Amino acid sequence: MIFDTHAHYDDTAFDEDRKEILNSLKTGGIDLVLTVASSLNSTEKVLQLIEEYPFLFGAVGVHPESIDELDETKFVWLQKVIRDRKKKVVAIGEIGLDYYWNISNREIQKQWFSRQLELAKEEDLPVIIHSREAAKDTFDIIQLACKNAEKQGKRLTGVIHCFSYSIEMAREFLKLGFYLGIGGTVTFKNAKKLLEVVEEIPLERIVLETDCPYLAPVPNRGKRNSSLNLPFVAEKIAQLKKVTSKEVMEITKKNGMSLFRIPIELL
Ligand code: NI
Repeated sequence: MIFDTHAHYDDTAFDEDRKEILNSLKTGGIDLVLTVASSLNSTEKVLQLIEEYPFLFGAVGVHPESIDELDETKFVWLQKVIRDRKKKVVAIGEIGLDYYWNISNREIQKQWFSRQLELAKEEDLPVIIHSREAAKDTFDIIQLACKNAEKQGKRLTGVIHCFSYSIEMAREFLKLGFYLGIGGTVTFKNAKKLLEVVEEIPLERIVLETDCPYLAPVPNRGKRNSSLNLPFVAEKIAQLKKVTSKEVMEITKKNGMSLFRIPIELL
């Protein structure tokens, strides 16, 4: 069975058939899904979804693309959601930096990224990091946050979702105790750099993810993605690591459960 550690089932791409898809996951071999928020509105939707489906867990937070909606009042609301969280809210995410799309001011992105990391440390929750064309700033901010946490006897951990950087960067994030999220892009033709990363890093530090509705793996590339496509990703990782795809599924599920501290009694 597979744990999809990064899906967006609140996305409007699932409005037509969300129920059907979610109800078909178990027979498709997917028994655990972390549905990740990207904005305040999406945070509310995630909170509703995890109430409805026992196998769905949630992450709440504001993605760099939506960061302009945050202000002090709204941040207080987010803090409250996280402080009063239900057991099924297991992470803060997705949060981070995106310098690829010219979305919002980099300084503003950095400021709210740090604030959300701080919140994760205070609330002892792992983080789900979105980082695009912003490797150095992302690393510097996370490293500083980890150091500060350590000084206070706390810890900060998480996953670099849809990892797209070099093997050197991967090693640095691993040293901080982070996991790497691997999804459909590992099956793409131009994945050379990522293949190198997956070959080298231990399977014990990889979690499987879809980022659905985006990034469907080959042979479904370009179509709407769902957790049901994850066996293609597991198969590709199995080839690279020279193990069976069953082992990939089992180990990555165990990794995800330990990273997000999924309470066994809720399964
Ligand atoms: Ni995502």
